[in-house]
Amino acid sequence: MGTILTSLKLSKNISNTGNIVYFISENSTLTQFDFSKEEEQFVHYQITELKHELIILNRYSHWIYLLLPKSAKTETALLERLRILGAKVSNHANANHIGSVHIDGTKAAAARVLAVAEGMLLNNYQFIQYKSDAKEKANRLKEIVIVSNSIDELEIHRLSVITEATLWARDLVNEPVNKLNAIGLAENISAKIRAVGGKAEVLNLQKIEALKMGGLLAVNKGSVDPPTFTVLEWKPENAVNAKPIVLVGKGVVYDSGGYSLKPGSSMETMKCDMAGGAAVSALVYAVASLKLPVHLIALIPATDNRVVGNAYVPGDIITMMDGTTVEVLNTDAEGRLILADALTYAKKFDPMLVLNFATLTGSAGRAIGSQGIVAMQSDARGFFDSLSESGFVVHERLVEFPMWDEYKEQIFSKIADLKNIGGAEAGAITAGKFLEHFTAYPFIHFDIAAPAFLEKADSYRGLGGTGIGVRLVFDFLKKLTSV
Ligand code: BES
Ligand code: ZN
Ligand code: ZN
Repeated sequence: MGTILTSLKLSKNISNTGNIVYFISENSTLTQFDFSKEEEQFVHYQITELKHELIILNRYSHWIYLLLPKSAKTETALLERLRILGAKVSNHANANHIGSVHIDGTKAAAARVLAVAEGMLLNNYQFIQYKSDAKEKANRLKEIVIVSNSIDELEIHRLSVITEATLWARDLVNEPVNKLNAIGLAENISAKIRAVGGKAEVLNLQKIEALKMGGLLAVNKGSVDPPTFTVLEWKPENAVNAKPIVLVGKGVVYDSGGYSLKPGSSMETMKCDMAGGAAVSALVYAVASLKLPVHLIALIPATDNRVVGNAYVPGDIITMMDGTTVEVLNTDAEGRLILADALTYAKKFDPMLVLNFATLTGSAGRAIGSQGIVAMQSDARGFFDSLSESGFVVHERLVEFPMWDEYKEQIFSKIADLKNIGGAEAGAITAGKFLEHFTAYPFIHFDIAAPAFLEKADSYRGLGGTGIGVRLVFDFLKKLTSV
């Protein structure tokens, strides 16, 4: 994988000779900088006339970055502005081959300082290892140093781990299926989780057959590669939860649509269809690395969805792990089939809460675009509200869609228990209702189809895989374990 990590450090001393970011306010006197008259005029003009939020001064031996974010309606909106400004600083640093940048955090609130660093770290990601000139193209920014007395080493470590986890999720998403099939994905994830003290078990084809996971097996029929079902666990002795939180992530390593073949242009990005699986794996990685006191399990059913002689076809009737029969009317609605079996499997853990992450429907993207996550809950109102609040904090915002029972009528089949597609309307919701059928516990489903993969870079979210969901659930778990 390609990620070159940027190191994040804490220092008590400001360097006056290095590249440095300062927070200023509209009425800052600027005397601390010992600017020349021209420099002071330049800064003043940028602030008052041009209303720039980031002012960059070339001091020849180093650069000075002045941050003056526009006022925002809420503190969380301000944090997002600061992440975006951090991304701009790192772009400038890389364009100028700068290796190290300090952030003067002595005059700003800890959360704001950390937000700038977070934007820089996430923005510094590149996926270029398949380029012949990857070495020359590699970002030069290698080190970010926060200067602060109020931020401690633990906070620095936490931010490093959570950004590293997010960037790992991006790597998994960005690797195409010819480099990472279901087995490769399962192996990659397991190795990474074991390395930080978590447990990982990969159920192979025989085990999946023995468990009668009819959904995963049906989708896999069109593949020459066997499916995998990865089970990850982090179970510390001091867990705050008696019953585990189970994360479920869609691991379709490539979605051609199967016989309900996708049109060419929609197929271009379908290596991203395991972004849910990547996000939940990255969460277990972060939680285990930081030894959070929470019992967590992740389930990642994985296969590609393709067309060969024996592939499943529209009209097939399949029997799911829990005995539910499903009339497959569209082989492109494959995600819900593999996830249904994972949701059934989750029952054996008697979970406190199940969080399902999936690039599930184009419908979710058409409704709200990539600015948020379509989410639905059943029997999990309190958890949902807490996650929703975390959504604003990390800027991975949730839009709640209803789970009203009337929508379920759309997926009743005349000849089987369910069919795998609803009508023309409310496609994200009927997909959610399909999943809900297989649950018997507090359940939240996140449809990340649009924000998981960007075809155009969007600030620190970058181009390609975004790693969405990781920072969101991590913030929620942090609250739950109150660390
Ligand atoms: N993987 C797709 C959903 C998707 C679309 C993800 C765009 C990322 C970007 C999913 O398997 C799918 O094809 N869903 C169908 C469902 C339909 C056939 C009911 C869709 O949304 O069109
Ligand atoms: Zn599909
Ligand atoms: Zn899919």
